[in-house]
Amino acid sequence: MSIGYVNGEFIPVDKPVIPIDERGHQFGDGVYEVIRVYHGKPFMLEEHVQRLFKSAIAIKLNVEQSHEDIQQLIDESIEKSGLADCDVYIQITRGISPRQHLFPDAPVSITLTVKPMRVTEEAIRENGKTAIFHEDERWANCYIKSLNLLPNILAKQNAQDVGGYEAILVKDGFVTEGSSSNVYMVRDQTIYTTPLSKQILPGITRMAVKNIADMLEIPFIEKKFTPDELLQADEVFITSTTNEVMPIAYVDGNKINDGASGEITRLLYRKFFELIE
Ligand code: PDD
Repeated sequence: MSIGYVNGEFIPVDKPVIPIDERGHQFGDGVYEVIRVYHGKPFMLEEHVQRLFKSAIAIKLNVEQSHEDIQQLIDESIEKSGLADCDVYIQITRGISPRQHLFPDAPVSITLTVKPMRVTEEAIRENGKTAIFHEDERWANCYIKSLNLLPNILAKQNAQDVGGYEAILVKDGFVTEGSSSNVYMVRDQTIYTTPLSKQILPGITRMAVKNIADMLEIPFIEKKFTPDELLQADEVFITSTTNEVMPIAYVDGNKINDGASGEITRLLYRKFFELIE
């Protein structure tokens, strides 16, 4: 069963609980993580919690709870939900205080939900999804997993409005990442992805895929590439916690590979699913 948690209390997910003067929904003043749980075990939990704290520090959010406290809270929530395969969303905001821009003297708010996993059908993964190129209109600190997702959701909606699934963001002529994923191209049996910088989120799935590529001895090169180079690639795929490894078969109407999942992409997601079995 889906469950929610707000500042110390487990509640039904649909219970209205957030006060108006809450920094998260007034300012987007907070950070978050999405963690996928396979067979009762949160995937790369430590890495997610580490990134959550890095994001918090980057926005000067003083979280009194320790890494262990947060990991325990996540474990306890999963157990309470009774769900074996689920998605955990956790956010930490600068708390509840009468609205003003300056930091309040208030404890942080920690809220989370545990919901059933939305499984991707095998056929979709075999056929691949479609994407569009979209200007990256975000700010200078995209390495922070901040609640401010307006440019991301506008880009994703624009993709959906023309029948696409993901928006591949382009800044100064180079691909950065997806609106909610990291982006890769495969050329001559080699994987290319944008190097880590303040311009992209250091994806946890990206980390997993890099390890898998090493394991399979597939070269993994972190190097910027242009939309034209991506269109010339043998394969294109995206990764994220909820998409895992997802092939992209069309970009702006151009067929990649033969419009289906490519060989390297398939190797990567098969290995990924082997690891979580
Ligand atoms: N999004 N880049 C962006 C902008 C993202 O929002 C995400 C994930 C990723 C991939 O990160 P990871 O592999 O750690 O999930 C990259 C999550 C899933 C979301 O906002 O729902």
